[in-house]
Amino acid sequence: MRTPLIAGNWKMNKTLDEALAFARYLGEHAPKNGVETLICAPAPLLYSLADALAGTRVALGAQNMHHEAQGAFTGEISAAMIKDTGATYVILGHSERRQLFGETDASVNRKTICALKEGLTPILCCGESLEEREADRTTEVIKAQVISGLHGIAEADVTKVVIAYEPIWAIGTGKTASSADANEVCAAIRGIISDLYSDKAAESLRILYGGSVNTDTVKGLMAEADIDGALVGGASLAAESFHSLTTF
Ligand code: G3P
Repeated sequence: MRTPLIAGNWKMNKTLDEALAFARYLGEHAPKNGVETLICAPAPLLYSLADALAGTRVALGAQNMHHEAQGAFTGEISAAMIKDTGATYVILGHSERRQLFGETDASVNRKTICALKEGLTPILCCGESLEEREADRTTEVIKAQVISGLHGIAEADVTKVVIAYEPIWAIGTGKTASSADANEVCAAIRGIISDLYSDKAAESLRILYGGSVNTDTVKGLMAEADIDGALVGGASLAAESFHSLTTF
């Protein structure tokens, strides 16, 4: 049985006061029993949020990291720095990192290996563009990203990875993929894991959907067999909305 995971990706949003107010609200409004919840916040907020969320059932994550342990990488943060804050997850290979900051399948793979080595749970993102979907290349694109992202990762570790399917054309557009379409791709990802590793690994690994998830669409998505949770951007910024998502 895979534990459902509702994860918020705040992207580049929130001051410390706003983040602490959000945490206070979640301290007073628990998620549905059996649902794991997570907030991936900007790095400057992580230490304070870890303190503020202590005692709640909300885990904390970062939104990126460097694959090196330390060194001359101005502006970067390491897996150890993330772990030191109390965060336990890290989003890797988000389409915005790929499109705006030159992230590649190879760099995402290096980071995934490093995150696992540090004991963090990587959320490995994949997703196709509208052009790729319209050219019927979705499965081809997703397969390449997943296989490259997991290169060199043993079966014992792969089940610790969370995969997030985020069609680029659904991110920030208000156009949520239909539950059936989202599930079809998540099922294809599970098939890729089965072929790469085993049915057992495929059955235990969690696959999230992300892309304009909101309180109207979350229930239908979570009812799908191969969707184990959601990675939510805009609808995770307001505490009330995020809490509502966690009680789908
Ligand atoms: O990582 C989640 C994000 O890309 C989805 O954003 O605003 O479409 O929910 P949004």
